[in-house]
Amino acid sequence: MNVTEAITARRTVRKFTQEPVPGAILRELVDCARVGPCSANMQPLKYKLVEKPDTGLVFPYLRWAMAIAPAGDPAPEERPTAYIIITADTSIRPQNYDIDVGIAAQTIALAAQERGIGSCLMALHDKPGLKASLALPEEIVPVLAVALGYPAQHSEMYPMENGNYKYHLTGDGTLHVPKRSLEEILL
Ligand SMILES: Cc1cc2nc3c(=O)[nH]c(=O)nc-3n(C[C@H](O)[C@H](O)[C@H](O)COP(=O)(O)O)c2cc1C
Repeated sequence: MNVTEAITARRTVRKFTQEPVPGAILRELVDCARVGPCSANMQPLKYKLVEKPDTGLVFPYLRWAMAIAPAGDPAPEERPTAYIIITADTSIRPQNYDIDVGIAAQTIALAAQERGIGSCLMALHDKPGLKASLALPEEIVPVLAVALGYPAQHSEMYPMENGNYKYHLTGDGTLHVPKRSLEEILL
């Protein structure tokens, strides 16, 4: 799989088999993010790996597929088997790390895709709550979660029509994700 194939084939996955992602692979994913571009090369990001049996410490702080809730929620036997929580160490950089986080998140998602692992980038709706749940140090701010696992859901793209950006599920459980055309986004 080359980089373009990984970029194109990656779709958000929200339902997973319960086969664990090996811890060594989680470390590889972070090692890919580690060498990515970042503002001023300050490298303020730190990563918390969360695997079973601790994944329940993260799940309550996430909101799944708002556009189709609750149909997109993973059932207990479909939940992610691991998370990488992308955090900022504010003792290195107190602010302006959000773009670095976005780059790191996509790097992790693509490296996961190459390894046959599905991912869902997830906003954190209660950062203080998650910080307490994971007992993160004072200077560490959680910013984004990457939910991970082997996919138990198929998702495919289709051309967006009339600006309708909402993804939808069909009866067979397939997720359909509209994407704007290249012509529309070129200025
Ligand atoms: C910054 C960011 C935050 C996101 N937060 C959530 C979230 O809280 N819950 C969720 O189910 N999906 C979340 N997503 C996934 C998007 O819904 C998904 O990327 C989008 O629907 C496009 O689908 P695709 O990734 O398959 O192209 C997030 C994605 C990004 C980039």
